[in-house]
Amino acid sequence: MTDTQGSIHDQWSSRFVFILAAIGSAVGLGNIWKFPYITGENGGGAFVLVYLICVALIGVPIMMAEILMGRRGRQNPINTMRTLVAAEGGHPVWRGLGWLGVVAGLLILSYYSVIAGWSMAYVFRAGAGLFTGADAKTISTLFEDLLQSPGSMLAWHSLFMIMTVAVVARGVRSGLERAVTLLMPALFALLVILVLYALYEGDFTRGSAFLFTPDFSKVFQHCEVEAAIKTCRFTGEPLLIALGHAFFTLSLGMGAIMVYGSYMPSNASIARATLAIVLADTLAALLAGLAIFPIVFANGLEPASGPGLVFQTLPIAFGSMPGGQVFGTLFFVLLVFAAWTSSISLIEPAVAWLVENRGMGRASAALVAGMLAWLLGIGSVLSFNLWSGESFQFLGKTWFGLVDYLAANILLPVGGLLIALFAGWVMSRASTLDELGMGDGLAYRTWRFLVRYISPWLVMIVFFNTIGLI
Ligand code: PHE
Ligand code: NA
Repeated sequence: MTDTQGSIHDQWSSRFVFILAAIGSAVGLGNIWKFPYITGENGGGAFVLVYLICVALIGVPIMMAEILMGRRGRQNPINTMRTLVAAEGGHPVWRGLGWLGVVAGLLILSYYSVIAGWSMAYVFRAGAGLFTGADAKTISTLFEDLLQSPGSMLAWHSLFMIMTVAVVARGVRSGLERAVTLLMPALFALLVILVLYALYEGDFTRGSAFLFTPDFSKVFQHCEVEAAIKTCRFTGEPLLIALGHAFFTLSLGMGAIMVYGSYMPSNASIARATLAIVLADTLAALLAGLAIFPIVFANGLEPASGPGLVFQTLPIAFGSMPGGQVFGTLFFVLLVFAAWTSSISLIEPAVAWLVENRGMGRASAALVAGMLAWLLGIGSVLSFNLWSGESFQFLGKTWFGLVDYLAANILLPVGGLLIALFAGWVMSRASTLDELGMGDGLAYRTWRFLVRYISPWLVMIVFFNTIGLI
């Protein structure tokens, strides 16, 4: 995609497509499925506050860094890193950043597709009117039924993976990305309707207090009850989970945003694009939280009930609101769509590498990468049924829990750390100043300060703290 030639319309539309694609990548299951359930598991307000601080101090500067590196390199992440290393004179080890992204993307895609599969199953459940008039208990049982059928979970997982591979193989993603203009606002509108429902029918006071009243003692204490004796100790782990989620939800640290940056016209403002992406993503997550927790408390449900949270709460709303059958069906359709525009960006670094460095055709590359993620995903399908027992767990986690932890809480923050260090310390001041194109004023200086001194340190402190070194 060039930006020096062509009509004004071309430039406008490619700039627009960049933002749409990046918002499509960012807004997904991370906002509507993951954010509420990890907030519930980590005690609420204090966790949300830490997550918002991570988004502002780490997410924003690192997103600008990742976009600018992609735009300067103009290729897939692995080659972009090679080009940048050559131009800026860094050690070849920096190329490892591209690899990290390929691995992290495939690991995340493997279970992302399973959860997207749940959402597809829910399109049909909502459409069939299964939620109409159902109480919390019935809704929970419906969800349990799904978890207890690995066969149908596998079928939905396979179907979603085929959808992802099909789009990436045929290179028709721009059509899908343009659909974002219509479907994303629709998703936001439905979230607002759900928040209004929660306001009138849920326990909105407790729900919003849970989200926005930070109680640090609750979040950073880990208690266990064994033989009727309760013991509590300090834990920094919610910090790492909040940090990891800031990367996950913004699609940072693995090259997805770098790929999109490589398509961005050089006269478009990186800072403004970043702001739009971050605001849309954060708004989606907070709306989802405000829709879900009032329903949790009004129905005596457990906030910490895990990955099933959204599937056990929103159907209650759809089951009792006027027009709920239509809204519910539409909501899950839009959720699948949001997951779809995210999954194509998860697979992209792997596909781009296979095409550009291994000489594969686009279709075979997409097929190979999709097969790999699909196979890994079978472990996540089984994590909720046949492999949920103790004997299949490692470090107290199921396969799903482990893959998610490794990818979201370790690989993405490490990738983000390397991006910050590269943009802040390896690239020359002149290059980043030129690429960001916002002049040598306060904004640029703040960015450079954050990316050199603040973001890398915060990431490292959280890491060492969790491993127990601080
Ligand atoms: N940001 C996406 C979401 O919140 C997930 C994602 C992570 C997509 C990393 C691409 C890269 O659902
Ligand atoms: Na997100």
